[in-house]
Amino acid sequence: MSLFITFEGGEGSGKSVQAKELFRRLSKLDVPALLTHEPGGTPLGEQIAGWLKKSRGIDISALTELMLFNASRAQLVTEVIQPNLKSGKVVISDRYADSTTAYQGYGRGLDMAMVKATNNTATQGLKPDLTILLDMPVDKGLARKKGGKDRFEQEALAFHRRVWEGYLKLASEEPERWLVIDGTQSKEEIADIIWQRVSQLISKGED
Ligand code: TMP
Repeated sequence: MSLFITFEGGEGSGKSVQAKELFRRLSKLDVPALLTHEPGGTPLGEQIAGWLKKSRGIDISALTELMLFNASRAQLVTEVIQPNLKSGKVVISDRYADSTTAYQGYGRGLDMAMVKATNNTATQGLKPDLTILLDMPVDKGLARKKGGKDRFEQEALAFHRRVWEGYLKLASEEPERWLVIDGTQSKEEIADIIWQRVSQLISKGED
């Protein structure tokens, strides 16, 4: 059975760790699964991700940012996500279109109808079956980030607060798709909550 699961959250929310852990648990049980991420996940997408994440003294407007994230996404959907779902895998993506709605829509303040329409074009309407939001207070998440900061981590606290509030709004609009988890819990506790929901979905799909 195919299943499309995405992970979302702000900086330092722990979503990448949890995406990897879910992939590990599925693989251990020989459930065919694939783990990918955004921006990137394809050779073209990785190049685009480099432009978006690193500050190179080149200006990128909010609108261009929207287009670049979606260019990376369009390639990922066509090259990786769709074929793997077709072959019956559980596809896990560390970020997907909701990131654009949260960051470019709520964070940058781009017109929401335009953001959603652009996302919809890039994804060809493909929506996740389940989206896991790791809910972590903004200051705690940012404090977890070590080393050099990328373009987004350098943004003001107010930007990250808008992103966070945006995520909570998105989750409240579609509660059946989103699983919101308190990200301040231990890694193991969070992984168990996720596993409970995913294993339910898998057994439902097998009925
Ligand atoms: P990462 O830290 O999860 O690798 O994501 C890179 C950054 O890109 C992160 O700060 C969130 C941001 N981002 C957007 O602004 N819009 C998007 O559509 C995606 C996928 C990521």
